[in-house]
Amino acid sequence: MDFSTQTSAPEKIKTAALVVGVFADGALSPAADAIDRASQGAVRAAVKTDFKGKAGETLVLRSLPGIAAQRVVLAGLGPQDAFSPKVLASAYRASLSAAAGLGVAEAVSALAAVPMQGADMRARARLAAIAAADVTYRFDATLGKRDASSRPKLGRVALAVERSDTKEAEAGLREGGAIGNGMSLARDLGNLPANVCTPTYLGETAKKLGRTHKLKVEVLDRKQIEALKMGSFLSVARGSDEPPKFIVMRYEGAKQKPASRAKAAGAKTAGQGPIVLVGKGITFDAGGISLKPASGMDEMKYDMCGAASVFGTLRAVAELGLPLDVIGVVPACENLPSGRANKPGDVITTMSGQTVEILNTDAEGRLILCDALTYVQRFKPAAVIDIATLTGACVTALGHVNTGLFTPDDALADALLGVSRQVLDPVWRMPLDDDYQEQLKSNFADMANIGGPPAGAVTAACFLSRFAKGYRWAHLDIAGTAWRSGKDKGATGRPVPLLTQYLLSLS
Ligand code: BES
Ligand code: MN
Ligand code: ZN
Repeated sequence: MDFSTQTSAPEKIKTAALVVGVFADGALSPAADAIDRASQGAVRAAVKTDFKGKAGETLVLRSLPGIAAQRVVLAGLGPQDAFSPKVLASAYRASLSAAAGLGVAEAVSALAAVPMQGADMRARARLAAIAAADVTYRFDATLGKRDASSRPKLGRVALAVERSDTKEAEAGLREGGAIGNGMSLARDLGNLPANVCTPTYLGETAKKLGRTHKLKVEVLDRKQIEALKMGSFLSVARGSDEPPKFIVMRYEGAKQKPASRAKAAGAKTAGQGPIVLVGKGITFDAGGISLKPASGMDEMKYDMCGAASVFGTLRAVAELGLPLDVIGVVPACENLPSGRANKPGDVITTMSGQTVEILNTDAEGRLILCDALTYVQRFKPAAVIDIATLTGACVTALGHVNTGLFTPDDALADALLGVSRQVLDPVWRMPLDDDYQEQLKSNFADMANIGGPPAGAVTAACFLSRFAKGYRWAHLDIAGTAWRSGKDKGATGRPVPLLTQYLLSLS
């Protein structure tokens, strides 16, 4: 997707589709008003009869007299006093998908220029680019007949803004464009079936990303993983014939910038180390010997969406050339039942030396992440964020709206909560009190891998906390937010916006 800005008067903008905003109380945005005047009242006439201005509503007006644009798309902005970044994003999505539905190749949106409290021009432009990528995303890699005509032709979007806002709008578009590209990569990886998107495939994808985006990539194989004594990760991997991979991707941006700026960024990240992102890469989770029910099991191909978000975020960060160091780490394997699989009651030794009694082989995410959390200590990170489709309990707690955020670090929590609101990729902080640790007691090992039914998302995070030692750490449980079920089944690309915006905020 190609993004740019436009500063002509709305009625003079030559485009296939010009989007202007209308509020629910009939108030017109400045651009809608300009179109209305130049067309002798065409917008107000439509608003009287066919258009309520509800958030997400659209109406296409064609060939208006005195208007250079071929079509004007009215976008509802809801009640004026409730106008917010969220409403704006829904108006972007609705209007751009209406434009895409018209079959046009380019469109101009005047929505970013609508004045708003709570989001500056840069943030508003960023949301526009994310929305454009979102509504034009299609996954057709596994269709027998790839029908090019079913792909939206919409490939260029310009924002109509005041001349004085051009710079900020362009910066926001660049950021949003990179976030959109990162989300598309994450969605593609998530949507690919597990017979294609294997641990080996993820490793190859990492190497490819390394070549196109200048990342240093290492893909460790079983032997190297054994040498690291990742007994917990390997115990999960052993149940499958697919070889495990341990993927390390490094983006080194800190050294590229002038020394003066290096200091400033270092101060902000409270340390000179890299930010490390650890993504759960279970390319299929059948549950192992603690087998999952058949119904809906196909969706466990999405159990690598944490890993996918790490790939997507690194792509975005590299594209933006951010002046900081980011390392992505992905333990990747399958969780299947077999003659070599973990059995309930098995005790394994993690890379940290702590032992774990596996009471449920379906709680495998924490078993692969714990060794990755130990491994990353070597980087002396400024902070570590792990991202995982970890628990059904998190879906029960927060549904499909908020990602679960767990961290003992209040400052890190506040930083992540703040940027999550900015990019509309919401997270909700969950508790992590020591008292929950009791539920992980085992008679036969240092801990059990499950804590029983109460607070399942919290005890999973508690398990991880025992390995996240020696650095600042946050855990994101994306089980409810990484993909959608039902007729719109598909990966969402979350939380690439959150992670990328967090890294932007540090640079
Ligand atoms: N990948 C699942 C978590 C999951 C389940 C994500 C449903 C999205 C939807 C994870 O590996 C798992 O199976 N967790 C178990 C843990 C339990 C055995 C303690 C769960 O949530 O049921
Ligand atoms: Mn599982
Ligand atoms: Zn899982």
